[in-house]
Amino acid sequence: MSKISLKPYNDFCPQTLFLYGTYDEDGNPDFGLFCWFSYIWDGEMGVMCCIGGDKPTKSNIKRCKIFSANLVTEELLPVADYMGCVSGRNPDKMKIGLDIGKGEVLNVPVLNNSPVNFELEVTDIISKHDGDVFLCKIRNVLQDESLSSDETAYAKLSRIAPVKTTCKRYFGFDGHDMGAWGEPMKTL
Ligand SMILES: Cc1cc2nc3c(=O)[nH]c(=O)nc-3n(C[C@H](O)[C@H](O)[C@H](O)COP(=O)(O)O)c2cc1C
Repeated sequence: MSKISLKPYNDFCPQTLFLYGTYDEDGNPDFGLFCWFSYIWDGEMGVMCCIGGDKPTKSNIKRCKIFSANLVTEELLPVADYMGCVSGRNPDKMKIGLDIGKGEVLNVPVLNNSPVNFELEVTDIISKHDGDVFLCKIRNVLQDESLSSDETAYAKLSRIAPVKTTCKRYFGFDGHDMGAWGEPMKTL
């Protein structure tokens, strides 16, 4: 295989998408779309995520130190794309009729239609010039009870169909192209 060298980039490295749920200072829920999310180990599994720039999700997390991460499925993609393309500073962002619940353990907003919701508590913040890395303890995982069935993992994944992103596009669980960032929200 012959290679070319590139500047820092992550094309062709698909990432799983999550909607982070936070409350603002007035207790109103906000959701934003994120893919720089992975796992850490410190005696038990934890989560790490990077949030760039300045955005309501970040200020809410810094203030409350808790948030939810809700797995994005093909069914949720139009809403998720919208949450990633519209700033929480837009007062109308959340007026799209989401089915929002609450965490079981932490006071965080969760998306009832997402099959996996992490309830996360921030333990460490690594602040760089234009981004912050958050290390989190997983205080609870809310999981669709049908995922405890005897089906194969492949059958369950095919059913919930998590979405991946790379090359500024979305791809379904079986790899099919679901459009560029900003496209799925047009179907709302
Ligand atoms: C596909 C996709 C993935 C994104 N991933 C991240 C991410 O990992 N980190 C980040 O800081 N912003 C990410 N964003 C941008 C945020 O979703 C965007 O800034 C959004 O407005 C945040 O919500 P808020 O304004 O309500 O805080 C992503 C956007 C899209 C469309």
